[in-house]
Amino acid sequence: MNLLKATSLSHAFDYPLFNNVSLELNATESMAIIGVSGSGKSTLMHVLSSMLVPNKGSVELFGRKIYALNEKELVKLRRYDLGLIYQSHYLFKGFSGYENLEVAALMANQTIDNALLQSLGIDKVCHQKVTELSGGQQQRVSIARVLSKKPRLIFADEPTGNLDHATAQEVMTIFFNYLKEHNAGMILVTHDESLAAQCNHIYRMNDGVLTKVQ
Ligand SMILES: Nc1ncnc2c1ncn2[C@@H]1O[C@H](COP(=O)(O)OP(=O)(O)O)[C@@H](O)[C@H]1O
Ligand SMILES: [Mg+2]
Repeated sequence: MNLLKATSLSHAFDYPLFNNVSLELNATESMAIIGVSGSGKSTLMHVLSSMLVPNKGSVELFGRKIYALNEKELVKLRRYDLGLIYQSHYLFKGFSGYENLEVAALMANQTIDNALLQSLGIDKVCHQKVTELSGGQQQRVSIARVLSKKPRLIFADEPTGNLDHATAQEVMTIFFNYLKEHNAGMILVTHDESLAAQCNHIYRMNDGVLTKVQ
């Protein structure tokens, strides 16, 4: 099943960032996007995840052209079907990790999966205030928060950036198992070539062109 289809995307801010980018992702598949800092990877993720309308091109999510949806349909799609994990985790700082998970689960009519918290190693610490957690623990809470929504498509922009390599590998294994179990897909931006190599597809953003490398 096709989850995402992007056709001829182009975008510029002060100068052109990328041109004529096309890609597709099917259920259970993962795709890594690599490239130097400033090459437009995060901007492309914003376009693919419906958060930014590009200058040119179109995006289909789950077979629906997203620029034809009204605001209500778009909000519903983002809330129930998309999981966005960004470099900086937007956790509510005054709450505990667990309360952050409760809010996300409630919004998506889901329940919190304790096995998931255990596998991420945050089942005990997540009852502490977000501000008392280390950067790596906060990052794992934000990953748990997104997976608790049970999204069909995950957009992860450097999700393991604050984690040591062994923990990053464990988190990636959790993602890959999630994709199989839930028939979902993932697009991952990473600087870590060994993590990228575990994805089904690898693309490199270079000089405004997205090229398939695996
Ligand atoms: N909201 C914005 N407004 C203006 N320029 C932006 C904006 N977001 C990104 N840019 C420009 O696009 C460039 C690429 O940014 P980004 O997509 O974050 O690259 P990457 O994720 O590969 O590091 C940045 O260097 C910046 O000049
Ligand atoms: Mg970026």
